[in-house]
Amino acid sequence: MSYIEEIKKGVVKSDAVIMGIETSCDETAVAIIKNGREILGDEIISSAIEHSKFGGVVPEIASRGHTAAILTATENALKSAGLTLNDIDAFAVTEGAGLLGALLVGVSFAKSLAYATGKPLVPVSHIKGHISASYLADKSLEPPFITILASGGHTAIIKVKSYYEIEVLGSTLDDAVGEAFDKVARVLGLKYPGGPNIEKLAKEGKNIIPLPKMLKNYEGSKYDFSYSGLKTAVINYVHQKEQKGEEINKADIACSFQCAAIDVLVEKALLAVKESGYKTVAVSGGVGANGYLREKLTLECKKKKIKLILPEKRYCTDNGAMIGAEGYLQYLKGNFADLSLNAKAVLPLK
Ligand SMILES: Nc1ncnc2c1ncn2[C@@H]1O[C@H](COP(=O)(O)OP(=O)(O)OP(=O)(O)O)[C@@H](O)[C@H]1O
Ligand SMILES: [Mg+2]
Repeated sequence: MSYIEEIKKGVVKSDAVIMGIETSCDETAVAIIKNGREILGDEIISSAIEHSKFGGVVPEIASRGHTAAILTATENALKSAGLTLNDIDAFAVTEGAGLLGALLVGVSFAKSLAYATGKPLVPVSHIKGHISASYLADKSLEPPFITILASGGHTAIIKVKSYYEIEVLGSTLDDAVGEAFDKVARVLGLKYPGGPNIEKLAKEGKNIIPLPKMLKNYEGSKYDFSYSGLKTAVINYVHQKEQKGEEINKADIACSFQCAAIDVLVEKALLAVKESGYKTVAVSGGVGANGYLREKLTLECKKKKIKLILPEKRYCTDNGAMIGAEGYLQYLKGNFADLSLNAKAVLPLK
């Protein structure tokens, strides 16, 4: 009998402490989560500064960053929880999607911990992890709810029907919203990661520049998005002004882009709430840290008496806590992997 079968036989318990390990991009993140809801310890070590020199994430630098940081991140998370490895009931790790070399560091590390302690190894989808960050934000949150998934690689409106069943109502046909933030930031001469820098600059914007309406005359799902046209319109605007030798007001551009990119997310999420009859909307993914999005949703949800779940900004961008929260759900299901687990650059959202 393999060690996994032995574990499946009797070790799964509803009261469990899970270590969540996340290394899919440029954050080396480890957290200790109790029963999928309570953060006992949490550490995030980011290599973002090293990437900012290059205007985006350099996969090789990200992998090296994880290798250098993973032990410290784990020790710090355990220390802040006041626990040792013996107290951990299972090791949850992001298996995908993400940068292959970066994922491999976390997967290999989690495997070694599971092997050494004889505890289960739980593979977790990075995106399901983002969604499950909401269970940490509100301990009483139960599905069903609508979530806006807005991150560096994804943009979607999702029905969370149960803890284990989601339905993607619509998603982006091209660029993700976070990717558009990063690309527009680059053209404005702002550093990576672009989102927070655009948000900061947008606060000084006064005049709205007209930008094209997304998916005009489009016949697909009304919940779909397209950020490529918006991004190109901003880039063309900047280039044309530069060619004519005219001055550009970067704050106005940042503000106009931010409104155009975010308003449509809010609009479609509220429509999904209305059409589904659900009473709750949540935010997931790095763009969920955007202050304008958070303020606008807060206002609209108050008006419409919709319950709003806004994870702390730290738990919108990549973190280990969300992997621990989703890992707990997978643990309860007995979704364990053996030591042949491999990292997956692409992992379909189902
Ligand atoms: N305050 C903010 N405003 C707008 N965008 C933001 C803000 N903070 C972070 N972002 C954006 O969020 C993205 C990072 O989010 P996240 O870490 O969830 O993405 P990812 O892990 O790279 O992609 P995915 O989760 O889809 O695999 C970046 O594109 C970043 O610019
Ligand atoms: Mg992410």
